[in-house]
Amino acid sequence: MCGITGYIGSRNAYPIIINGLKRLEYRGYDSAGVMVFDGEQIQLSKTKGKVSDLEAITNIDESRKKGSIGIGHTRWATHGVPNDVNSHPHVSQSGELVIVHNGIIENYDTIRKELISRGYTFQSDTDTEVLVNLIEEVKKNENCKLGKAVQLALTNVIGAYAIAVFDKTRPNELVVARLGSPIAIGIGKDNEEFFVASDASPFIEFTRDAVYLEDGELAIVKRNKEIKVRKISNDKEVDAVIQELQLNLEQIEKGGYDHFMLKEIHEQPKAIIDTYRGRMLPNEGIIRMAGVDDHMSKFLHADRIIIVACGTSWHAGLVGEYLLEEMTRVPVEVEYASEFRYRNPIITPKDVVIAISQSGETADTLAAIKLAKSKGAFVFGICNVVGSSIARETHAGAYTHAGPEIGVASTKAFTTQITVLSLISLKLAQAKGTLAKSAVNNYLQTLQLIPSQIEKLLEIDDLVKEISYVYKDATNCLYLGRGFNFPVALEGALKLKEISYIHAEGYPAAEMKHGPIALIDENMPVFVIATNKGHYEKVVSNIQEIKSRSGKIIAIVTEGDVTVKEIADHVIEIPETEEAFTPLLTTIPLQLLSYHIAIMLGKNVDQPRNLAKSVTVE
Ligand code: AGP
Repeated sequence: MCGITGYIGSRNAYPIIINGLKRLEYRGYDSAGVMVFDGEQIQLSKTKGKVSDLEAITNIDESRKKGSIGIGHTRWATHGVPNDVNSHPHVSQSGELVIVHNGIIENYDTIRKELISRGYTFQSDTDTEVLVNLIEEVKKNENCKLGKAVQLALTNVIGAYAIAVFDKTRPNELVVARLGSPIAIGIGKDNEEFFVASDASPFIEFTRDAVYLEDGELAIVKRNKEIKVRKISNDKEVDAVIQELQLNLEQIEKGGYDHFMLKEIHEQPKAIIDTYRGRMLPNEGIIRMAGVDDHMSKFLHADRIIIVACGTSWHAGLVGEYLLEEMTRVPVEVEYASEFRYRNPIITPKDVVIAISQSGETADTLAAIKLAKSKGAFVFGICNVVGSSIARETHAGAYTHAGPEIGVASTKAFTTQITVLSLISLKLAQAKGTLAKSAVNNYLQTLQLIPSQIEKLLEIDDLVKEISYVYKDATNCLYLGRGFNFPVALEGALKLKEISYIHAEGYPAAEMKHGPIALIDENMPVFVIATNKGHYEKVVSNIQEIKSRSGKIIAIVTEGDVTVKEIADHVIEIPETEEAFTPLLTTIPLQLLSYHIAIMLGKNVDQPRNLAKSVTVE
């Protein structure tokens, strides 16, 4: 999730763009760049690092800051590691077109090959440089203006984008377009100036009048002219709907949510789509994961798979154990990285190690990777930060495209990690023949339904709030689950602990009779995942054992459940899905529950006490 911004008007563009990028850094911060046009020359500066690192470059030479039109970018890498060359803006081969882009072009490799065959060369590894040269090629072949060239080029693009494009030969306009990634256009007094950005935070201090492009729309923005909005599909003009913004700066950064954690909980449908985007064709049963494809023999001949991680990522790894063993019949072990690295584990070159980390910087996980590599194991990484230490240390990997996760309590990382683990499991099952083609197709089609099911599930917020209010003063809580949902019970307990400071423990539901049931009384809320898959009847028995000891039951059930409804104190229903994918749904109410209880207790949800977002020390 990158941040783009631009300006065209009568003021000096540079300070507006730089300050705008600082406002957008929360969207991604591994590299930054700015282009301004001084009337003669394109002045482009870009670098790996933060906006402050970019300023260190532009401050050297004032000529880099002159001009009343420009665009800027702060990057959250998806293609190409963070470095100077891969930073935006990108320039077309002729040097005339300049682009900034937020999103993922799925068919960039096909387009790149075609452009190479037409004599284009590329400096970077990015999909964005491909896009700006596609626009240039169309503009040249059609002999048309930038707006038309962008519109025609985008009809050949598959993926998600929010772009701003500048043409040196037409320096009084910017062209912006969006599909799947937001663009806001701030409108200055009497159309004298325009601001374009991923959200309104860069221009809210200048104007509250804004047009938000809809998906599939393009806008041509010219000094002292009415803004023109067109449909990308057919170039037809559509009305530009100007709205007066009511949000303040902080609310804009949080997407209108009160906290980053709540915003990130609600981003999960999009994060899961972005994570499987370009990696699966459900109807054809095709799964594309280069990191797995290129090392398939390692996976197929592995004696076992060892998953190493910490915290929430470790819980995702546990779900991965159930997925991989169920679908591929390969033995899987899940290890706390902090234990694995010190207990002198038995590791052989026939082992495949999967390291899971949102930040890609967790010290224990990094150390576990180095240990496994030193003993000859093949190490595969699942990270959310492109170019992070773990991403660079592993032999291969697959990124979760969740976008920056700012809240310390991990939410969208968990569900996107499970999404990647699901795709890996299905791909290996295909290769090993442990799942029939029809079964794989069914799983992929079911996975494709998950984002819309989460969207629907997020509407239960009021019910979760009511339940949160009842149990917010508990001093201890238990979370129970079986099978695929045992890890979700652990994850739910961790969420509550880390942001509300209430002690909570997760257990396999059947474990209660081996001790924990002694804890049960009327003061012990027990959150039980009792979906209709797996060992439903046994979970019902566990619930009855707790109820008979006056325990309070809050059950997560499958829509239409009647049995548990009769015995539980509260019931939260989730949509029907494959047992293997229930964690993607059952975790949602538990995330919301921990959020609301913490808020009711007045806790700092985004930055809980004693915690850091990335544990880069032992
Ligand atoms: C989860 O909510 C916590 N913030 C923490 O357990 C986290 O999952 C753990 O530190 C691992 O971080 P990583 O995924 O970045 O490696």
